[in-house]
Amino acid sequence: MIDALDPGGPVNSVPPNDVHAAWLPPEAFRALGSRRSLVCGEGTLVDTVRDEIARACVRYGGSTDRPHPRPDRRPADDRSAAGTAYDLVLALVPAGLLPIAAAAVDVVYRRRYGAGTLGEEGFLLARHTEVTVVLAEAPAGLLYGLFHLVRLGESAFGLTRPMELHRPAMRLRMLNHWDNIDVHPVMGQVERGYAGGSIFWQDGARREDLTRVGAYGRLLAACGVNAVSVNNVNVHATEARLLTDRLGDVAAIADVLRPYGIRVHLSVSFAAPVMLGGLSSADPLDEAVREWWADATKRVYESVPDFGGYVVKADSEGQPGPFGYGRSHADGANVLADALSPYGGVVHWRAFVYNHRQDWRDRSTDRARAAHDHFVPLDGQFRDNVILQVKHGPMDFQTREPVSPVIAGMPGTRLAVELQVTQEYTGQQRHICYLAPWWSEVLGFGPWGDDGPTVAAVAAGASVGDAAERGAAGDGGGLVAVSNVGDDPFWTGHPLAQANLYAFGRLAWDPRLAPTAVLDEWIELTFAASAPNGLGLVRRVLRAIMDDSWRTYERYTAPLGVGFMVHPGDHYGPDVDGYEYSRWGTYHFADRDGVGVDRTRASGTAFTGQFPPPWRDVYESVESCPDELLLFFHHVPYGHVLHSGSTVIQHIYDTHFAGVEQVVAMRQQWERLAGVIDPGVHARVRERLDEQVRCATEWRDQINTYFFRKSGVPDAHGRRIH
Ligand code: GCU
Repeated sequence: MIDALDPGGPVNSVPPNDVHAAWLPPEAFRALGSRRSLVCGEGTLVDTVRDEIARACVRYGGSTDRPHPRPDRRPADDRSAAGTAYDLVLALVPAGLLPIAAAAVDVVYRRRYGAGTLGEEGFLLARHTEVTVVLAEAPAGLLYGLFHLVRLGESAFGLTRPMELHRPAMRLRMLNHWDNIDVHPVMGQVERGYAGGSIFWQDGARREDLTRVGAYGRLLAACGVNAVSVNNVNVHATEARLLTDRLGDVAAIADVLRPYGIRVHLSVSFAAPVMLGGLSSADPLDEAVREWWADATKRVYESVPDFGGYVVKADSEGQPGPFGYGRSHADGANVLADALSPYGGVVHWRAFVYNHRQDWRDRSTDRARAAHDHFVPLDGQFRDNVILQVKHGPMDFQTREPVSPVIAGMPGTRLAVELQVTQEYTGQQRHICYLAPWWSEVLGFGPWGDDGPTVAAVAAGASVGDAAERGAAGDGGGLVAVSNVGDDPFWTGHPLAQANLYAFGRLAWDPRLAPTAVLDEWIELTFAASAPNGLGLVRRVLRAIMDDSWRTYERYTAPLGVGFMVHPGDHYGPDVDGYEYSRWGTYHFADRDGVGVDRTRASGTAFTGQFPPPWRDVYESVESCPDELLLFFHHVPYGHVLHSGSTVIQHIYDTHFAGVEQVVAMRQQWERLAGVIDPGVHARVRERLDEQVRCATEWRDQINTYFFRKSGVPDAHGRRIH
């Protein structure tokens, strides 16, 4: 039922046979595996490249060589110096003796760009005298070059190709796993996980067999991810011990991910000195606490020399933090940063700090303001190896939010932008919701207007016109996302949710990529084994289904940026007033006259004032506020006329009817792929589409009925509202 993979082979990191191959099915390696190739260079990641090619060659009849170990003793008939003995050369440069084609490309590279331009992870691709050449200056670059060839398939060997230089825009491209070691009584093994259990942990222990983790690392390297944190940001008692007596588990995972250039990070509890060290306090200014962190960190690096660093959720939703000791978040982050700094590690310190025990009667407290209020005054006080990790929106991964003003407010701090690949608020991997168009909008947004740096440039650590815009990483915090992977045979529960994971990596590597182009890449790799000549149909159908699926999801859920309206706790399905009288600060304020949150300076919470111009004024005015964010910023009457020409109430009705019709059309489209793609994938998606139609219908009916009852305004088209 699932694409089987050939077991064995030089690399152990293919998924087991009962696990879907995702975007690396053997067929994706056909072009590579049928060529004669030479791989020059040494090191773990270069060995990975060799192993990948060797395995593809076993399947597709190509061959692979390594340079003669002693060039001075090379036999006269040795092929590795000849110009035409190979179709493909992947080489680490500078190297001793390169085949003529690669040497020629190397000369052009040095002249055109200058040695060192490729850096730690970049690669150069060129064709010379019918040889495809990939050059890198560090092993990771060769690995990323290999997976670029896989994406290109046959076209990597076309007659001519202009020289291409690829470097990641973000140095850190990281996935956070919200995985627990012990099954949490409410949140389960994976908090907000919709794809089964954890791939790392099972029932209180590390999984014995880490084959799947290796296969995961391989998939991540193929889309450009280079860092993973292995436990939940809500650090419970057992998970806290990963820092000390369970360190061996972290080391074992790091060993399996290392061949794919992925560093392991750990979520730690701010209270670790008390929980684990027996100290009476975790006060960051207490010398004993500083020593404890320094000592614990030293031991981490003894076990995992390339350990990435810590992720910390402090003073957030009940987690301990520096506020408990009257200290600032800069004090808190810096003590961990100082412990990590001798080893080159970083602290990802999350900015998700807000009052989660708000009284709904209190109209002056606005959760959207919280991160800016807490962190912007601290700009410039964090150590260089602190990365402030900011959710992309001011609330919490809703289907639509403005960009967080914190991103524009801290020029003296390294910022990472946090996205959510796991679909907590976007259909929980039961609904199709391709998120790349949303992320692309966020990353391309200019917090200072169209002429200033984009969100992507801030995360990359560069300003407009600067290196990051051209594809070279600055020292920004990069891009982070909450993973959507579990032990489900399809990795992500919904097979089409794999596209979100793939797209996250690709956009972190290059935020300028078009979401449709990324989708096409993913389709071509993932469905490389579809029925002969079926790929064109697969592409057409999946584009029709997925391209606009985020906007479709938006249409049938909470309207015009108001957010939430989800079932409390599990966050799935509609419950318009579910959070209205709760402590979480997530209100819509609908009454008989209107709906929305007044966040203006003129009459509301003044959240608009946290943005720099032009947005502080664009959002402030009901006339200029974009329709899709209207109810995020304004409380308006139901008869308010949008830029689209529709009234708010009619917009709500129209989008909810349209959204369900689109989901029904998605389900019809999907039927065209029966018999064309793997039947297991087809059946799983069909089952999820049935649920999506059911749930979207429920959303439509609850939202439309709620607003009809509140407003008394009938649908202009007389459709059925209950
Ligand atoms: C959301 C989510 C929580 C998570 C939190 C976070 O609120 O529902 O489960 O812990 O985000 O980002 O820390």
